[in-house]
Amino acid sequence: MRIDFSNLLSVRVGSHGLAPEFVSAYSEKIVPFHNDLQEKRKSGQLPFFELPYQDVSNVLALADDVRRDFEAFVVIGIGGSGLGNVMLQSALNALFYNELPSEKRNGPKFYVLDNVDPDKLMGILSVIEVDKTCFNVISKSGSTSETMANFLIVSRILKEKGLNNPKQVVITTDPEKGDLLAIAKEKGFRTLVIPPGVGGRFSVLTDVGLFPAAVAGIDINALLDGAKQMDLHTSKASLAENPAYMLALTHYLLNVDKGKSISVLMPYSERLYPFADWYRQLWAESLGKDGKGQTPVKALGTVDQHSQIQLYNDGPNDKIITFLAVERFAEDFVLTDEYPGYKATSYFNGLKLSDVLNSAQIGTTTALTKKQRPNMCITIDSISAQNIGKLIYLYEVATAFSGYLYEINPFDQPGVEDGKKAMYALLGREGFSDQADEVRKYASAESGFVLEV
Ligand code: PA5
Repeated sequence: MRIDFSNLLSVRVGSHGLAPEFVSAYSEKIVPFHNDLQEKRKSGQLPFFELPYQDVSNVLALADDVRRDFEAFVVIGIGGSGLGNVMLQSALNALFYNELPSEKRNGPKFYVLDNVDPDKLMGILSVIEVDKTCFNVISKSGSTSETMANFLIVSRILKEKGLNNPKQVVITTDPEKGDLLAIAKEKGFRTLVIPPGVGGRFSVLTDVGLFPAAVAGIDINALLDGAKQMDLHTSKASLAENPAYMLALTHYLLNVDKGKSISVLMPYSERLYPFADWYRQLWAESLGKDGKGQTPVKALGTVDQHSQIQLYNDGPNDKIITFLAVERFAEDFVLTDEYPGYKATSYFNGLKLSDVLNSAQIGTTTALTKKQRPNMCITIDSISAQNIGKLIYLYEVATAFSGYLYEINPFDQPGVEDGKKAMYALLGREGFSDQADEVRKYASAESGFVLEV
């Protein structure tokens, strides 16, 4: 993996970049942060650090059962309990996986039901055979409204169809508490665990992400191996040698000193696009606190060159753009000159389609740099489980470290909890009625400005 920070430097982007001395200036300053992080890791306060070293034999055994017994697999979970699954499935299986015939798929058809949108649930229900489907309900709290609502509907459908095989439902939740765990025990559903100290958005390398990935035939040991390889680098005390600390510090300094309040992650790969969704949650929910933080935005190369790049290039200079590039694609196409004599097509002759994609990324980089727009690039040699494991771990450690720079706690999410409580109040959940009047007030037109047309 190559992480090129060059275009964040003032030598490349003038006053919008960082003076190269920032590395020496911060090398000493970050030592207490590093020591505290390592101390917390050692004392078990930050268990996400140790996830690459876990034994996954129970996950693989259960996944094998599900792969043998079911033709479709539906994750029911949202946020940290959903996004990582979309990301892994998209990156490490074929793009149109569900449309492939079963012999070309690595496992059952795969769906993630996160939203409580009736169209989405109906969409999934209309393409699966419920009796041949395993539902994996994932919720750390065991109570998130969206997940519970979708689970209720699925449970009713199973009941109405007379399907009472407890193997059709696998629950992934806190090992000790929560209603979901109690329901699993009551009904005899098989259970998997989200370790108590691991927050939702840091949980993709727990059973939350590993079990669905294993069901879909993804090599989860290779994924963890990649994370281990990254740990060799991200546990270093030396700023200049630690890619996670460099990622965190450059983003932080560009944010607070240079006004880059937006961080765009722009993979030049359709398969990696959901990685940007996963990153968006990690960066936003972890760092957006106390009036601080950087707004993460996702973009896709080359598609957004024809949508966003005009703004990135010529609009407000308030962004840091990170490209995610892939050197070699598993399958590629060579272009041939099918219409000799035409300037718009002849120059492609002999090039690969990935050459076109990667040249577009380099072209965009050049254009942005010339306009003094800070940008950086992470290049992986191929999209493999190891490389995705590396990327996950890199961004998780960078996020944890950023907490020290911003002086906030990256592991809580009070803003998310506030919204969840308001929703419980509105929907009438026991214990939240005192908030209902306030919620109704904000939802009403009274003292507001509403147009009905
Ligand atoms: O990162 C987080 O903590 C959140 O995004 C949660 O993952 C999300 O709210 C879902 O929560 P739960 O897993 O408790 O259903």
